Amino acid sequence: MINYLNAIAPVIEQSDLMRRIVIAVTGSTGAVYGLRLLQICREITDLETHLIVSSGAEATLRIETQLKPSDLEAIATRSYGENDFEAPIASGSFETAGMIVAPCSMKTLSSIATGFENNLIARAASVHLKERRKLVLLTRETPLSLIHLRNMLQVTEAGGIIMPPLPPLYFELNDFSKMVDLTAGRALGLLGIVTKHRREWGVD
Ligand SMILES: Cc1cc2nc3c(=O)[nH]c(=O)nc-3n(C[C@H](O)[C@H](O)[C@H](O)COP(=O)(O)O)c2cc1C
Repeated sequence: MINYLNAIAPVIEQSDLMRRIVIAVTGSTGAVYGLRLLQICREITDLETHLIVSSGAEATLRIETQLKPSDLEAIATRSYGENDFEAPIASGSFETAGMIVAPCSMKTLSSIATGFENNLIARAASVHLKERRKLVLLTRETPLSLIHLRNMLQVTEAGGIIMPPLPPLYFELNDFSKMVDLTAGRALGLLGIVTKHRREWGVD
């Protein structure tokens, strides 16, 4: 027999739940966006990062940053294998402030758009959509086919945010790393996480 009085769950502060985010790094060019996101998140006290690096990202990480997935995993609070469907982030019961896929390949976009859930990245993204939480995809490909565009539309209609990592050239920045940081800061801002890596037009 269940003792219903003892079964009452302890009170959890809402703010605790909002200090977790999921970050996925996939195999499109732009591995540095995933890296800087993790590094910026680490500067923020009490923000937990839950990381998945796709096997596709191993090549782009190596080619573009000379890093290995384990280097990113060392920066994250927790990390999970691409096929670890037993991970907490595979369930909607694990509350988060949102998920960012940075960068997001067209393959991962496609599996998210179709609900295919072929790996933990697509599963966690699907969970964020079904729970009506923030999902931000830093989609990277150019030019775009009709299939890419339809997949982006499908994710947008389901509540996701498509945010191609395009540099804000109106700030006349000549430092590429600053542009990356502004994009990472903007993506975190979409999840309600304010960082110093933000800049507003017309405000110094
Ligand atoms: C150097 C390099 C750059 C790539 N750039 C892109 C890209 O910009 N966009 C894209 O969708 N795929 C790109 N790809 C292809 C993806 O890595 C490939 O489709 C992979 O299967 C994606 O798998 P994932 O989404 O599970 O990481 C690139 C591959 C390599 C090796």
